[in-house]
Amino acid sequence: MHPAHRLNGIELSLIRQINALATPLSVNLGIGEPNVEPDEPLLEKARRAATSSWKYTANAGNVSLRKRLATNPAEACITAGTEEGLYAIFQAYLNPGDEVLVPNPGFVSYATLARLAGATPVAYDLEPGTWQLDVPALLKRITPKIKIIVVNSPSNPLGSVIDEDTLRAIANAGPLVVTDEVYSEIWYDAPPPSMRGMSGNVIVVSGISKSHSMTGLRLGWILASEEILKPVVLAHQYIATCASVFSQSLAESIFDAPDWNASWLERVRAQFRAQRDVALFAIERELDTTIEPPAGAFYAFVPVPSCDTETFAKTLATDGAVLVIPGVAFGYAGEGFVRISFAASLDQIGSGIERIGCWLRAKGR
Ligand SMILES: Cc1ncc(COP(=O)(O)O)c(C=O)c1O
Repeated sequence: MHPAHRLNGIELSLIRQINALATPLSVNLGIGEPNVEPDEPLLEKARRAATSSWKYTANAGNVSLRKRLATNPAEACITAGTEEGLYAIFQAYLNPGDEVLVPNPGFVSYATLARLAGATPVAYDLEPGTWQLDVPALLKRITPKIKIIVVNSPSNPLGSVIDEDTLRAIANAGPLVVTDEVYSEIWYDAPPPSMRGMSGNVIVVSGISKSHSMTGLRLGWILASEEILKPVVLAHQYIATCASVFSQSLAESIFDAPDWNASWLERVRAQFRAQRDVALFAIERELDTTIEPPAGAFYAFVPVPSCDTETFAKTLATDGAVLVIPGVAFGYAGEGFVRISFAASLDQIGSGIERIGCWLRAKGR
């Protein structure tokens, strides 16, 4: 039995490959999941959500939940996580021969989802160090073949945030713009600007995986004009039928408790701020390098003395018992860097980065 051609060249992501090297002794700084524990009010909301309906909802999700996200519920579709939202959009809009502009370095799924839809990903590079987006360079890459531009701010793996003027320029560049804002609630100095409403071409994808530490509950959404959303809902109907009714009820009860939600998000940001500070301190002390402090998300993208970061990260995992993700997993522009996730306890962050430092020194680097 041969798998379909569309899977040719599509492999287990380097993130999964590195995580597969974990042992009970490993310090795992490779994970893209928040480490915030639910509080009692959140657990109580979950208990109540578990006793609500267990039936299908409308394909696009419960109208009451969609109304929390958009004034017109026809402009919102609830999905099984941001990932399914991206998949549905790409299935709805891409034909073979189309091209998709994806950030480099950028989240691994964008290029793969474009390929699965028969299209070709085209990388736009971000400036190493500050990881700023060069608008004129991006605009130059737009040809009639470019159907979608993907934007991700705050960024996985960079932790960088894109400023409002840059976002406006992209929103009005011509093609559809898919803006992945799944980290929008995890920021340090100021909330990141959203592309929502910047132009009729903008499709926002987001969810509660990162903001509410609910990666396994698979709850995300897509926000776009009714006209743009219609074909996406059609694709979503045949992918997921509807998002989990339990997760939809839970999301609704979160939005129905704005005071609790605001204090929850404050707590999440405070925890990540403390973890970020320990990570930055350890990176400077142990790895002898300073990086631009991440403005959002929970990743540090750190230069390392290696021009083959895949081997570097695999050897570090097996010999140094620390998991980090090679920068090249996120595109060729990530070579020479590793992604350190600081979604881990302060102890793990400190001891993990210390182990990397010891390992590098033992190798004479
Ligand atoms: C940038 C980015 N987008 C989307 C996702 C997927 O999120 P979800 O759990 O909502 O599918 C992730 C998860 O790591 C991510 O980092």
